[in-house]
Amino acid sequence: MAAQSAPETRRWSGAAIRQAFLEFYAERGHRRMDSASLVPEDPTVLLTIAGMLPFKPVFLGQAERPAPRATSSQKCIRTNDIENVGRTARHHTFFEMLGNFSFGDYFKRQAILWAWELSTGVFGLDPARLVVSVFRDDDEAAAIWADAVGVPAARIIRMDEADNFWASGPTGPCGPCSELYYDFHPELGDAAIDLEDDSRFIEFYNLVFMESNRDAQGRLTPLENRNIDTGMGLERMAQILQGVPNNYETDLIRPLMDRAADLAGLNYSELDETRRTSLKVIADHSRAVTHLIADGVSASNLGRGYVLRRLLRRVVRHGRLLGITDPFLTEMGEASIRLMAEAYPQLEERREAIVAEMQREEGRFLATLERGEKLLADVLSARPERISGPQAFELYDTYGFPLELTAEIAEEHGLTVDLEGFEQAMEAQRQRAKAAAVSIDLTLQGAMEQVAAELEATRFRGYEALDHPSCVQALVVNGEPGAGAAAGDAVQVVLDATPFYGEGGGQVGDRGVLAGGSGLIVSIDGVTRSRGLFVHSGRVERGQLSVGDVVQARVDRACRRRVQAHHTATHLLQAALKQVVDGSISQAGSLVDFERLRFDFHCPRAVSAAELEQVEGLINGWIADAHALEVQEMELEKARAAGAVAMFGEKYDATVRVVDVPGVSMELCGGTHVSNTAEIGLFKIVSEAGVAAGIRRIEAVAGPAVLAYLNERDVVVKALSDRFKAQPAEIVDRVAALQEELKASGKALAAARSELALARAEALLGQARTVGHGDDPHQQLVARLDGLEPAALQSAAQRLQERLGERAAVLVGGEPSPGKVSLVAAFGPAVVRAGLKAGAFVGQVARACGGGGGGRPNLAQAGGRDAAALPDALEAATAELARLLEQASAG
Ligand code: ALA
Repeated sequence: MAAQSAPETRRWSGAAIRQAFLEFYAERGHRRMDSASLVPEDPTVLLTIAGMLPFKPVFLGQAERPAPRATSSQKCIRTNDIENVGRTARHHTFFEMLGNFSFGDYFKRQAILWAWELSTGVFGLDPARLVVSVFRDDDEAAAIWADAVGVPAARIIRMDEADNFWASGPTGPCGPCSELYYDFHPELGDAAIDLEDDSRFIEFYNLVFMESNRDAQGRLTPLENRNIDTGMGLERMAQILQGVPNNYETDLIRPLMDRAADLAGLNYSELDETRRTSLKVIADHSRAVTHLIADGVSASNLGRGYVLRRLLRRVVRHGRLLGITDPFLTEMGEASIRLMAEAYPQLEERREAIVAEMQREEGRFLATLERGEKLLADVLSARPERISGPQAFELYDTYGFPLELTAEIAEEHGLTVDLEGFEQAMEAQRQRAKAAAVSIDLTLQGAMEQVAAELEATRFRGYEALDHPSCVQALVVNGEPGAGAAAGDAVQVVLDATPFYGEGGGQVGDRGVLAGGSGLIVSIDGVTRSRGLFVHSGRVERGQLSVGDVVQARVDRACRRRVQAHHTATHLLQAALKQVVDGSISQAGSLVDFERLRFDFHCPRAVSAAELEQVEGLINGWIADAHALEVQEMELEKARAAGAVAMFGEKYDATVRVVDVPGVSMELCGGTHVSNTAEIGLFKIVSEAGVAAGIRRIEAVAGPAVLAYLNERDVVVKALSDRFKAQPAEIVDRVAALQEELKASGKALAAARSELALARAEALLGQARTVGHGDDPHQQLVARLDGLEPAALQSAAQRLQERLGERAAVLVGGEPSPGKVSLVAAFGPAVVRAGLKAGAFVGQVARACGGGGGGRPNLAQAGGRDAAALPDALEAATAELARLLEQASAG
């Protein structure tokens, strides 16, 4: 708690700290720069992770310096430690970094002197509470701290590379650094200094002496200039100066925790750590997502869009952990805008977009959760011993259903979740993702991007060749930049030239192998491209692969054939829709892969079954007509004049590739195609549906994939005819009849059960007791009813309460099946008015039976696993309920 006894008396707001920092450096000749976007201009980096990022080209000598000195408060997002957010005092996704920069101007000594002056002079930190670190070999920095500043030797700590050598990534500008730490417990003495101990120290200012560039092999070369890059964590400084125990309780974040607490009907200061953590996560992520959307990011499954989606979903999920079940993201968005718009006026301007994106994404996620809830209900209705690891994982993975939520619902039903099994399933998934190297693991992507930064564009040979000798330019091995890889390693490979199509224009990347002379086989299962570089992802199956090797790059011909059939068929589909449905139809997106094609298009209404049939007929006609395709490069203007279809809003080069099915379709397209429509063989529409307002989606199969599709259907139909002993044509009627029957017997069964329950309940009325004094005492009934399903038990409890009147409190408990406990509390309106809560009461009883649960104040249900404890629990509940009712009638 020493944090609360910080010696500074002046109360510093976050805004005042930001301003004081910028003014201090502006007075010292620094140009004030606005915060750059969270989406960096540098295309090799996913998000702005530090104040220096906008200046990276300047440090590398690739761009003019804006001024010799600059200062900024930069919005940053880091997601590498996302699991720690809210659990420690100072981890964040979004934070603001205050920085002063020198581009070949002042260096180490001046940077240190100013950092000290600012910290102790302006912010008034007690010098006796400051400790500094320097890089192991940096005698110069140590000497400046000791001699020019006067820091005692014991408070100058030398650290190694891991801590005091700073770089923005595996390659790029870097250098040794020196950090300033604040000591919350100086009374522990200098001998016990351990800067890793974050209950005692907080690092608040990092000075990087940026003088080197690191290449992909890890070699350092001196930069032309010696530079300064610094970062002061605004939230950390606020924690210190505001004397609060963590960054979240500063005025930069606290209002958002309070807003979320309000929405949940809670009070932060009264909560346990778990709930506080949830509030912290919500507050942190709300700041991050508000800024991300303001900077133009929208939720998706890739890159930044995925970061945004993940953060938004975590907010919703932690909201649910706090009991918020209604949509609330936009409330958090509004609160975030209110809190931060003064410093970032753009938030106010982008309000509508921010709120709309939050609403959309929350809606999607809630729908997913709902589907997950249904699945979970199915799982539960099978009355399992516990929820298995794979089941919990499916809920998590497919339905975005957080494990905590599954566990909570399971607990309400007196069940547990196999956590170990869940972890195993999760780990297996991680391994699969690693092997496929298609994970959205940011560091992996980051490593490749870094490695590729200095390479020339890959020459694409895949229009003419499927087999090509290529030289390995760069490698990422198991997520790290590397020079060589061996069997079993997951690799990403950049070649000088390649026949592999790189994912783009809706078409997936090719598959195939890289083969080498000495038995090398690398299986390639994905190829992406970015800025002209093709990245081949896969695994070394045999042999060794090294940078500089010449390999034979071989595209899997069968896969390529399937994709080509789908791609040309997509063009035919667009042409057919224009003819059959509406000439103004335009493409909204497409996916062309091995198994199928998906075509999204702007169209205000559904395409009718008859139109779909016509479309299919037209396309299969074009296929049978055996049109030879003509592919040529031409000037964009010429292509447009010839009537080639382009994607609205796409940017095209001056020279474009035109894919022409003469007389049928002409499109600008970089994809790979059949040479004659006859190669497609057959085209079949699988589905048509709406995907968004005004956008329809058609899924279809063409070429070899049609056979696979038919076979798959055939297997299902055969299995159904066997099972129902019916001809394929009779199956539908047979199933409909069975469904009717099932529905009728279900109804009859439920009615019989509840009648039975009610009859048995009637018999218990005599056990009711009168509790309390006066003319109008309370009625209490605690009883046991075994063998009833939760729903039937609930009807019984409600009936008893109704029969006993509005002043009655009823608890019934029993074993629905041997060993399990089910409990229901039903309180009459007068009991609820007197302040008793059925939810809390039944939860308490359930806990005594090894379970939990809750519900509304008048009616609540719970479960447990320990049936042996039930008699005692009911007895205790009788006494407790009597006590509560006595109290109520006395009050
Ligand atoms: N760029 C340095 C950091 O982020 C200052 O810590």
